[in-house]
This record gives sequence, structure tokens and C-alpha cells, in this order.
Amino acid sequence: MVASGTFGYAREMAGLVDLCRLGGILPKTITREPRRGNPPPRTIETTGGMLNSIGLDNDGIEAFIEHQLPYLASLGTAILVSIAGRNRAEFVEMAARLDGLAGVAALELNLSCPNVSGGVDFGTDPAMCESVVARVRRACGLPVLAKLTPNVTHLCAVAKAAEAGGADVVSLINTCLGLAVDWRRRRPILGNVMGGLSGPAIKPIALGAVYRAGQAVNVPLVGIGGIASVDDVMEFIVAGATAVQIGTANFYNPTASIQILDALPAALAELGAACVADVVGTIDTG
Ligand code: SIN
Repeated sequence: MVASGTFGYAREMAGLVDLCRLGGILPKTITREPRRGNPPPRTIETTGGMLNSIGLDNDGIEAFIEHQLPYLASLGTAILVSIAGRNRAEFVEMAARLDGLAGVAALELNLSCPNVSGGVDFGTDPAMCESVVARVRRACGLPVLAKLTPNVTHLCAVAKAAEAGGADVVSLINTCLGLAVDWRRRRPILGNVMGGLSGPAIKPIALGAVYRAGQAVNVPLVGIGGIASVDDVMEFIVAGATAVQIGTANFYNPTASIQILDALPAALAELGAACVADVVGTIDTG
């Protein structure tokens, strides 16, 4: 799959990527109301990654349903809609609105955006996480993915809470909170001061999160964080991910996902595996 916020609403990539080959597309997170996002600059390249402080800039759920979903639904791949609410009621309202709409295969609850006030509360407090997931679960029949933040001490407690709330899948990780500084001006580079770090720089953190969550929960895990090659994908699968999302790599290599798909059968064959499922969580830590 391609990760939310890194693939636009897919139109931008249509000339570059054979979209129907993807396992799924996660469009940019939508909110109930339109959001202008944070002040610029909102992205900065860093060593081995990038820092963003977009602030969930989007046109709101109704504009998404009217202008983006019909196109996305026509692409022949699963569309997993990423939603973020300011409170539980907004998550529930959006989930109910999207339930049953043609083309929506699943919901990914963005419980982890570090760039909006209140954005990570649901992902840092296990009780809040369980409660929002449970309410969404009751409000819709769609598969529910809970996307978690690495910016916590007790990641496994939050993963367990998501599972207890009824999440079908746990996605991890969202970005790592960070800062870029222009020392000559003694100023932060991002308009919102802090941002979320993504890209290859965070891959070991993401792998560690997938491995640890895999010890804590029984639901499937989607690995996200710095995946740019088939080797990265295999590492995540061996560590415990059932599926992966390609994120920041899309910005500098839009065809990364397709290159990975092409290379995956040979990588599986190297392990004598016929399919991904044969490899999931087979890491030997003994
Ligand atoms: C953003 O829009 O600020 C990034 C989205 C996220 O980190 O969830």
C-alpha cells in the first residue's frame, strides 16, 4: 500500500504508477471540516528523511466524497480512507458517513498526527485509544486500522488498547517528533516549529515498533516507516508486519512501490517462501 499523505489523492501519481497493481491506496487524511494546515515552510529535507508540519491540510470529508472518492473508486485497488477527528464524536461521524460508500475498503484512524493540537492524544493515551476505536467499531462495518504514534513510552499498551477497542489491524508508525534549526537565524525552519520525521532515518524505530507490537497483540500489523526497497519490506515482514505502506519514498521515487512489487517474489523465494504469509513474524531472536 502507499501511505497517507505521500500519494496525494492518487491523480498526481496516475501517469507514473500502475495504480491497480497496488494493494491499496491511503489518500491524505481527511477531517470533518476543511483545514488550511500549518504556516509554511511545512516540509524540510533532513539527513535520511524529511520533516513535515503539514497540519492535516485538506478540504474536509464532504469535498473528499464529492471530488476525490469517485476517481479513487475507479482505480481498481482498495481505497483505505484515513480519517482524523478532533474528538470521538467526529471520528464516529466520519466513520458512519463513509460506511457503505462505493470504493471505501477500510478506514485508517489517524490517531497519531503530531502536527495538530489534540492530534496525538488518542494515540498516546491507551484509554482514549480504546474508546475511540470501540466507538468507530460500533459505528461502521468497515475494517478499521488504528495508526499509532512512536512518540510514546508504552507503545505496546496503546497497541493493546487499539486491539481491545476492536481494531482489525494496527498500523505503525506515524512520524517521530523532531525539530530543524536554522542556526544562523536562530530560528526553527518549520513554520510550526516542530514537525514529524519520516523516511529511511526512522526505519529502525519503525521496525522495533512492529517487532514489539507483534509480541503484544494478535491482530495483523501494517509496517510503515522508511520503507524504500524490497529489502526494507522483507525486514518488516520478518519482524512481524503482514503488510506495509510505502510513504516518504514516494516523494523521491514515485515508482518505488512498483519496483518493490516486481522484486518481492524473488525475495520471498530466497527464503523458500511461496507467499508473504509464510514469512510474517518469522524473526529468530533466539
Ligand atoms: C500532517 O498533515 O501534519 C501529517 C499527517 C500525519 O502525520 O499524520
